Amino acid sequence: MTSTATTTTVADAEQGIATLKLRSPAQEEQQKQEQKEEEPYRYAHLLPHFSADRYPPLTPFEHVDPGHRALALPNPRAFLENATFIDDLTPHLGTEVHGVNLAELDSSGRDQLALEVARRGLMVFRDQQDFIDRGPEFYRQWGSHFGRLHIHPTSGHPAGYPEIHLVYRDLNKSFNFEYDDAVTPTVWHSDVSYELQPPGLTTFFLLAQPKSGGDTLFTSQVATLKKLSAPFVAFLRTLKAVHSGFEQAEFSKGGRRGGVVRRDPVEHIHPVIRRHPVTGDEAIYVNRQFTRQTILKFLFDHIDKSQDNQARVRWRPNTIVLWDNRVTAHSAIIDFEQSGSARHGARITPQAERPIPALDGLEL
Ligand SMILES: [Fe+2]
Repeated sequence: MTSTATTTTVADAEQGIATLKLRSPAQEEQQKQEQKEEEPYRYAHLLPHFSADRYPPLTPFEHVDPGHRALALPNPRAFLENATFIDDLTPHLGTEVHGVNLAELDSSGRDQLALEVARRGLMVFRDQQDFIDRGPEFYRQWGSHFGRLHIHPTSGHPAGYPEIHLVYRDLNKSFNFEYDDAVTPTVWHSDVSYELQPPGLTTFFLLAQPKSGGDTLFTSQVATLKKLSAPFVAFLRTLKAVHSGFEQAEFSKGGRRGGVVRRDPVEHIHPVIRRHPVTGDEAIYVNRQFTRQTILKFLFDHIDKSQDNQARVRWRPNTIVLWDNRVTAHSAIIDFEQSGSARHGARITPQAERPIPALDGLEL
């Protein structure tokens, strides 16, 4: 912060002359803050609401991945034709795109998007205010194209829209699932992997954010797997792991989240190596948040330490990020406590198929 004071000219009514008044940077900041507080928050209708509703268990359904339809097209990347900027974040993971309005994509464009996200793991679209301002009814319609929308058992949602998962954190409260007593808040995970049919293509955007900080880390579980030796991969293909939602439910019940558990927690067994239904890519499918077994310790460390497979997304205003939750993992970064800013985001989370084992015939 600079130490120069702002000079303001004000008319002195009594003396009829102009005088100079000095305001310090702290006073400037306070005035800005007061102005901000007076303005109604643009996305107040999307603040977290914790209903006490109870939901029955989820039921299985057949997932048809929209990426399959795009495979049959002569140009499955036609939706990017008008992009003004396309840049890979890293060789293994992530592409940033400017100049494409996601809200205007037709049905085929959305199919192509699903395929491209499956191939790149992660895509970052800038300048998406049109999408964000269309509101929760539109988010619901958007997400339904990609699969049955997941309703989170413990998170806050906009009133009347339980399908929209919200994250919200400011100085006074946190509705996020983070271990704030840990040395680092980094927790690599794939969202709600304890479900029988965990999410596939996921859309996430921030509505409010700190000026700096609150980035999100991603990693490619396809690239992470490729670093391991063939005999070890062959062994891993024979393994399965338990993914449990019990700890998350306990965390919420303990009052450290919204305090509600609207669906009884579940756990499911998934293959340690899963196969993507459209690309055929094999990916590690375990994560520190929802799986616990000694054999996994090595894989967790491998995921944590493979910075060569990772990308970091800086959240500029009106950015939408999509990832394929089947073949990537991610972690929020909580480094903005001192900024005084809120970080408020919305996630649209269609469920996908029950994880397909990379090893044909593996019994689950
Ligand atoms: Fe997440």
